[in-house]
Amino acid sequence: MKINIAVDGPSAAGKSTISKIVCNTLNYVHLDTGAMYRCTAYKALKQGISLEDEEAVCKMLEDTEIVLTPDGKVFLDQEDVSLAIREDAVSMAASNVSKLPKVREDLVKRQQEMAKDKGFVMDGRDIGTVVLKDAELKIYLTASVEARALRRYKQNQEQGVTLQDIHVIEKEIAERDYQDMHREHSPLRQAEDAVVIDSSDMTIDEVVAEILRLVDQVIEANQ
Ligand code: DC
Repeated sequence: MKINIAVDGPSAAGKSTISKIVCNTLNYVHLDTGAMYRCTAYKALKQGISLEDEEAVCKMLEDTEIVLTPDGKVFLDQEDVSLAIREDAVSMAASNVSKLPKVREDLVKRQQEMAKDKGFVMDGRDIGTVVLKDAELKIYLTASVEARALRRYKQNQEQGVTLQDIHVIEKEIAERDYQDMHREHSPLRQAEDAVVIDSSDMTIDEVVAEILRLVDQVIEANQ
């Protein structure tokens, strides 16, 4: 039996890293919804479209293809943007476009279509509360701002993304947390039926083991 797993939480909490390992272990498919907001922001920036112009961004989306491949690559209109969308400038821009309700509507529809069947681990901000309300397992993965900034710094270093001072990253994470949690439409919040995992003092392996334990529990309860 396969289930769907929703993983929500603030930025740089390790959602993607953890989701990928869980997927490899269970032979599930990972869907990184943040990448879709990042693609939207990236394309709008490139085309000089204002990130506040909801109509223009939506019009642009009508003509936009976003493909998330099973091996974790992101294609925007057939171009591999997997690395380009990770730049820090795109992070804040993605948070800005994610405030627009019509943009959310468009991307949520695509996400629900992608995860029509079971066997998906979808990560984002509104997966347990909006996109996959009926997911059998909902995780709210969080960590302190300091722990998340350090992880993001190391990840940028490994991926060859432009390096910023760690204190700048900390400030940006705190700003983005505030913006994602206080926006009017589908703000980041913990679903009532989500299991909270604070990974500040946990290793990746420990978080993965905890999620796999929860998956077993859910599957057993549903059999
Ligand atoms: O997960 P991420 O950092 O790649 O996401 C980039 C931005 O996109 C994030 O600041 C908020 C937004 N986002 C969202 O509003 N809803 C989602 N399901 C995923 C991301």
